[in-house]
Amino acid sequence: MPHDYGLGPGFEPMHVDRKSLYVNLEERIKYLQHFIEWSSADVEALQHGTKYLKQLIPAVVNMVYKKLLVYDITSRAFHTRTTADEREPDEDYLTEETPQIKRRKMFLRWYLTRLCQDPTSMDFWRYLNKIGQMHCGQERLAPLNVEYIHLGVCLGYIQDIFFEALMFHPQLSMRRKVALVRAINKIIWIQNDLFAKWHVRDGEEFADEISMYSFGSGNREGFLAGKRIIGSSSGSSLDDDRSSIADSASVAPSMQSVAPSEQSFQTASVQSDQTAHSTASASTTTGSGHGSAPQDPAAAKISACPFADFAKKGSSTETKIWAN
Ligand code: HEM
Repeated sequence: MPHDYGLGPGFEPMHVDRKSLYVNLEERIKYLQHFIEWSSADVEALQHGTKYLKQLIPAVVNMVYKKLLVYDITSRAFHTRTTADEREPDEDYLTEETPQIKRRKMFLRWYLTRLCQDPTSMDFWRYLNKIGQMHCGQERLAPLNVEYIHLGVCLGYIQDIFFEALMFHPQLSMRRKVALVRAINKIIWIQNDLFAKWHVRDGEEFADEISMYSFGSGNREGFLAGKRIIGSSSGSSLDDDRSSIADSASVAPSMQSVAPSEQSFQTASVQSDQTAHSTASASTTTGSGHGSAPQDPAAAKISACPFADFAKKGSSTETKIWAN
């Protein structure tokens, strides 16, 4: 349920400084979080749900890579590191069994493991930004240029797999499912922005000022003196991520893939419980049931969801928005 901001006579909108959205990652994240009502309820949902999410990761990775190898335009990127060059690669197209793809699956597994972990530190969001940055074709050595269309739809595909699997989970209560799906949805949409911002041209007029606004120690936003300079911050945080989650590979079921007040954002703390209250109250009010049944039995039959067979009929849910 959206937070009631008390819009009425005399209401003053909250100030958002446009420039800071482009030159200061922290301010951008704060705005996105506040807008999407990211709250302590989301953090709690993720902390509780992390074990369920991690169980899904290996299957999600397999499905994503199957998908990326289906299309020449995305598959080629694993040869040429770009989706913008339509020339055929010199070698045969890669398959799931090739060592390169196995290695890349590991990267995605690390990323998703990180995605399902503690989102309370700014490092978490900085990491998501770094993933966006590295796909936008501006690395000095071996640039990787994945155009936004593929990134956006790939995120949507990942979201779809997570949501279906979670909603059919046999043990989680409906209240937990909804809370977890909402939290993941918010993270994925912020990741989507952190992909898109490297591809859209909005805010380009601030490009030459971005290096003046640092975000954390040594983390520049990829610009210097009007030019984008990717790779300015070291890749060490990614390296650290790899080693810290090295055991994540073992958790998994395998899955068959299916077809193809006047306040400025300069100071606002958006993880306050102001929004937590509204978020918590927006969760389902009746959901104590186990695993809701699909509306369409045929859909369940072809479901890619590992829990689909366990889904039981009978639980219904009512949120405030439907009660009105
Ligand atoms: C949801 C969207 C995506 C996410 C979250 C994602 C995530 C990642 C991550 C975490 C890495 C490894 C980074 C590292 O540690 O070096 C990576 C590398 C890579 N990604 Fe993506 N990716 C996405 C979409 C795509 C798409 C759509 C393509 C192809 C069309 C693609 C192609 C690549 C390639 C070629 C690499 C480099 C692999 C290498 O250096 O060996 N990615 N991606």
